[in-house]
Amino acid sequence: MKKNLVILSGAGMSQESGLKTFRDMGGLWEQYDVTEVASAEAWEKTPELVMRFYNQRRKQLFEAEPNAGHIGIAELEKWYDVKIVTQNVDDLHELAGSSSVLHLHGELRKVRSTIDAGLVYKMDNWELKFGDLCELGSQLRPHIVWFGEAVPAMQDAIPIVQKADILVVVGTSLAVYPAAGLINYVQPKTPIFVIDPERPTIHKKNVTYIQKKAGEGIKELKLKLEKHK
Ligand code: OAD
Repeated sequence: MKKNLVILSGAGMSQESGLKTFRDMGGLWEQYDVTEVASAEAWEKTPELVMRFYNQRRKQLFEAEPNAGHIGIAELEKWYDVKIVTQNVDDLHELAGSSSVLHLHGELRKVRSTIDAGLVYKMDNWELKFGDLCELGSQLRPHIVWFGEAVPAMQDAIPIVQKADILVVVGTSLAVYPAAGLINYVQPKTPIFVIDPERPTIHKKNVTYIQKKAGEGIKELKLKLEKHK
């Protein structure tokens, strides 16, 4: 039987695909005030700004492609039962061929009804406009978990992390909760690999740091995993 390999990914995963991270130098939260573009309050007060922000992100995503890191992770399915839990709202893991991807913070290519959160639609172009309505006649909004909103996918993410035989944390500063708290659900002996040029510290045993970008880091991970097959 294949071992369970769980990937916890963040914005750094997609940096080499040309998508900006949030907290690095030149990152999105240096350019924008997070509460003005990524909160339910902002959607109420200045929906134009919120709409423009996510339309820009979606436009960039439509032009982006998976990088060597995404592709390397998809290839790991040959040897492991790979489950990805991502904070990313892009779908580059799926485009690279990964078959199990749980999005904690929503999905940029999708939009949803403002009166029934269960009505979710996939966009086939980048631009969401005011006047684009759900089938019940209400305005559509980005399918994104904004600050101050619940993270319903945590319920599914926790058992995935609990069952990990190997945990790989890649491209996340682990600054945002509840997502960052997921690493506390691994079993005490589960080996953890952290791929990040900046080395976010994890206060746990069995942590191996690979201080590289995702593309190179995943290559190195494959070599290190030889002994965990
Ligand atoms: P951050 O921007 O906080 O962290 C990005 C991490 O990626 C940092 O630790 C960088 O050192 C690392 N990094 C940068 N380039 C990299 C590369 N090429 N390869 C590997 N690592 C690299 O992004 P997240 O941790 O994903 O939420 O942020 C978490 C959440 O905060 C996001 O999902 C978003 C944001 O506010 C929402 O919008 C709801």
